[in-house]
Amino acid sequence: DETTARRKDAHLDLCATGDVEPAQNSTLLEHVHLIHCAMPEMAVEDVDLSTPFLGKRLQAPLLVTGMTGGTDRAGAVNRDLALLAERHGLAFGVGSQRAMSEDSARAASYAVRDVAPTVALLGNIGLYQAIGLGVDGVRRLMDAIGADGMALHLNAGQELTQPEGDRDFRGGYRVVEELSRAFGDRLLVKETGCGIGPDVARRLVELGVRNVDVSGLGGTSWVRVEQLRAVGPQAQVGAEFSGWGIPTAAAIASVRKAVGPEVRLVASGGVRGGLESAKVLALGADLAGMALPLFRAQQQGGLPAAEEALKVILTGLRQALVLTGSRTVAQLRQRPRVLTGALKDWLAAL
Ligand code: FNR
Repeated sequence: DETTARRKDAHLDLCATGDVEPAQNSTLLEHVHLIHCAMPEMAVEDVDLSTPFLGKRLQAPLLVTGMTGGTDRAGAVNRDLALLAERHGLAFGVGSQRAMSEDSARAASYAVRDVAPTVALLGNIGLYQAIGLGVDGVRRLMDAIGADGMALHLNAGQELTQPEGDRDFRGGYRVVEELSRAFGDRLLVKETGCGIGPDVARRLVELGVRNVDVSGLGGTSWVRVEQLRAVGPQAQVGAEFSGWGIPTAAAIASVRKAVGPEVRLVASGGVRGGLESAKVLALGADLAGMALPLFRAQQQGGLPAAEEALKVILTGLRQALVLTGSRTVAQLRQRPRVLTGALKDWLAAL
């Protein structure tokens, strides 16, 4: 309905220019040190970043994670970033399809197949909307945009900070089990910036989930976004919790240890460059994921600015592989690395 669309536009405004990445939060990626190889004995062009995902082959292990849809402005973001992903062989996700499930006139703002015919494409819906839609309703959302898979997002922290948000989080695993039985390896379960830890990841995998985006703390904080929209006591609680979550580096390293190598892991949440992408890949991610940096570039300068930002990221990622003497992500993972400080403390507990 109207309120869903209005809320989405308020979210976009806040994410475009607001202070939605609290400076005191950290991914803890600053505590991951890849080790320099002075004699790489390889050329930049020897780097092979190609990666399988959702039955397709990516040219680089990067996912533009789901952000938006439902309004004309959101549609322009989806089309620009989907086209960018198509050009560079990345994976791309649309944002929550709740708006189109409530009003089919909004479906056009999620349609990207005309500009991105071969991109590995993810649909998106919240866990608690999925309960209402059922397996068939979720499948219709995926099919309506010709997606290769469906992302199911978890956002309890955001909901509790939203005055109109959910207050009852029972029954989640039961829905995940139904969806994973129906969708198989086309289902991805993601957080939205508070992180999925090893206990939840293990349980999801036991229920059949084969793709997980840990989306940890250190980047866009949805608790902060809702804090900025809230007033009174709700805003105060939001302020208190805007640093809540499992830092992305701790989430990805601990989740990889908890689940087998066959589970596809995405690490998003504050990943901001090629070197940081290399670090999450070294810690066990199959793909690095990013939302805010590409969204902001697109808002500031359209597709050309987003493409500039992406080129910096891809160049940095290749450079990190060369400087560790790695031709592939598999080789990068075998290299020694140094973990320091608070990250070591987190990993001792997780
Ligand atoms: C998001 N995110 C998000 N996630 C999701 O599953 N469904 C959604 O509709 C949205 N909407 C959304 C809008 C905008 C503008 C942003 C920036 C983000 C969350 C996103 O996919 C990701 O999990 C987090 O933002 C963490 O990544 P970054 O932003 O720190 O790179």
